[in-house]
Amino acid sequence: MPPETTPGTTPEDGATPSPARDGHAAGRVTLRTDLRAAVPDATAAGLVTAAVFVFLWARMGSGDSATVAVMPFMDDPGTYWMYLLSQAFGWSGLLWAWGTVVLGLLLSGPRLDRSPVPRQVLERWHRTTSLTTMALMFAHALMFAAELVRYETELAWLKRLWTGFADSFVPGWYDSGTGQIAIPVGQAALYLAVPLGLLFYVRNRIGATTWRRLHRFVIVVYVLSVWHTLLYGTNVWYGEWPRTVLWLLQLPVAVLLLVRLLRPARRAERLGAPGRRAGGSLPGWALRAAGRVVAGAVVVGILVVVVSGHDGGRQRPAEAPASSPHEKETE
Ligand code: HEM
Repeated sequence: MPPETTPGTTPEDGATPSPARDGHAAGRVTLRTDLRAAVPDATAAGLVTAAVFVFLWARMGSGDSATVAVMPFMDDPGTYWMYLLSQAFGWSGLLWAWGTVVLGLLLSGPRLDRSPVPRQVLERWHRTTSLTTMALMFAHALMFAAELVRYETELAWLKRLWTGFADSFVPGWYDSGTGQIAIPVGQAALYLAVPLGLLFYVRNRIGATTWRRLHRFVIVVYVLSVWHTLLYGTNVWYGEWPRTVLWLLQLPVAVLLLVRLLRPARRAERLGAPGRRAGGSLPGWALRAAGRVVAGAVVVGILVVVVSGHDGGRQRPAEAPASSPHEKETE
């Protein structure tokens, strides 16, 4: 999430020196300043969430919602508004995760000779959108917990609170259908996003190199988020256009990842010939080469999924299968 430029980067890394690199400008960037800078971004995210919420409400009310097709009892938006809000936060969270990953890949990929937006602005956007993403992910899980607390009316209050919390936040607790896999996948995304995103703000303590090495794993957070959505999102449950769009949106990310790996901004990360790179071992080279092959395969894989229509979506049944809340079966 936060960019790959940081104080402590030396010219030997092959990176262009910039005010952010010499430690003076970047030294002023703290979690507090970025939280303040994230206010407009978070406001925009709030508006997007509200728009998605209204859209999902209207679809549930009209009976067009795929969520209602999967769980027919959920036909009253006035009752299930917290579930709808959770879904809306899920979508804005995924959209913001998409944006922050795209910005991160643009920053760490090949340098553009003439960028319409100054690099420092891109870096700031990357950091603020990453903070907003974490908040949206958390709000999504929190609203799901709130819905469970509301729903479990037959339980005592303490048990209700515990059930809502544990089903949403304790890995392995949620035991219904596809959720047994999908929920821990979402939790892993949330729990990894926080340290991998926030480590930027303690980079001076842990060392710029350690931070950079850890931060690149943030792509795993994004992959887990998309996987979780494809597995469990009822609005993309069926093999229909919303699922196709979701797959298609992954194409720019995969292409940018491939380009970033093939032409990284930092010279030290370039592949070169096996064993040629100073300090580079053959297994290390093989690993980096394998990363590029995998990224290329992902690009091809997404294209195949979109063109063939084999996107893992279920067939919409004439009669909807699930009979009780949050019970979604794999079929
Ligand atoms: C503690 C972690 C999480 C929990 C408990 C959780 C829970 C859920 C549940 C129960 C659903 C199904 C809602 C439906 O019926 O569609 C869902 C869907 C979804 N989740 Fe998560 N999730 C978590 C993490 C994440 C993360 C990190 C993201 C990434 C932004 C995410 C994005 C989504 C999206 C986009 C949907 C689809 C909603 C829809 O179909 O309308 N979730 N999540």
